[in-house]
Amino acid sequence: MPLLKTLEENGLLTVIISRPDALNALNAETLDGLGELVQEVYQNAKIRGTIFIGEGSKSFVAGADIRELSILSREKAFELSSKGQDLFRRIEHCPKPILAALNGFALGGGCELAMACHVRIAVESARLGQPEINLGIIPGYGGTQRLTQLVGRGKALELLLTGDMITAREALSLGLINHVVADHNELLSFSKNLMNKIISKSPVAIANIIKSVNAGFGFEKAGYEAEATNFAACTTTEDFKEGTSAFLEKRKAVFKGK
Ligand code: COA
Repeated sequence: MPLLKTLEENGLLTVIISRPDALNALNAETLDGLGELVQEVYQNAKIRGTIFIGEGSKSFVAGADIRELSILSREKAFELSSKGQDLFRRIEHCPKPILAALNGFALGGGCELAMACHVRIAVESARLGQPEINLGIIPGYGGTQRLTQLVGRGKALELLLTGDMITAREALSLGLINHVVADHNELLSFSKNLMNKIISKSPVAIANIIKSVNAGFGFEKAGYEAEATNFAACTTTEDFKEGTSAFLEKRKAVFKGK
């Protein structure tokens, strides 16, 4: 089964992230596939807009693959974080619009992927959050930076420090997402209508709006570098081993602060 399914209709590419047995978590292969696909979006003149959605009705993306994370060395963790950050930056800076259609859980790397996209639409039942702290780690794909940009420092810190999942309605009220829709069917039709409206406009103007908005925000290199370094540092701790083991063994983690 391909991990990414694609469908192109009149310049609009829909990408389905498809690892339903792991709630579409981003393992190394899926991340590599996304990298190739984003390259294609940049290069293929026929593609004028892209929608990311998860397979099924339960999850958009439930984060990075915790099984793979649990065995990373500090060096590999730094590499992974840098690679994910680079990919998500390519998405954020893509001159063609990219929309995240959140059909369910958008957690950890899933929330980070959504935040790197230009627009986010969610079904009522979607849940968003950065639950990495429950694993004894921190976000590594730009979440500490983009969540702060989108919802402000106070609320970002609360979400990062509690690891709490929030409802689509709460995410809407925080400005984390753009719209809430009733169900999966409406999610697809609303997202396609919105994207078709956008891609009917001048591609040159679209690219320049994205470029200008991103330029105005600046790119705080220090923040992303700190995130990758601190993400990697967490992987050396007993708390990280405990957090990831507890998740995989389906029990509550007991952290000791070492
Ligand atoms: N990485 C790897 N596998 C994952 C995963 C992830 N991020 N998220 C879910 N899965 C797997 C589960 O291990 C489980 O596999 P199994 O059937 O082989 O046991 C399967 O997906 C279904 O998940 P499950 O936890 O049984 O579903 P649930 O409905 O009880 O809970 C969530 C759903 C999203 C609340 C829960 O899966 C979860 O907390 N996931 C991790 C979220 C996270 O911490 N993301 C950040 C990672 S850095």
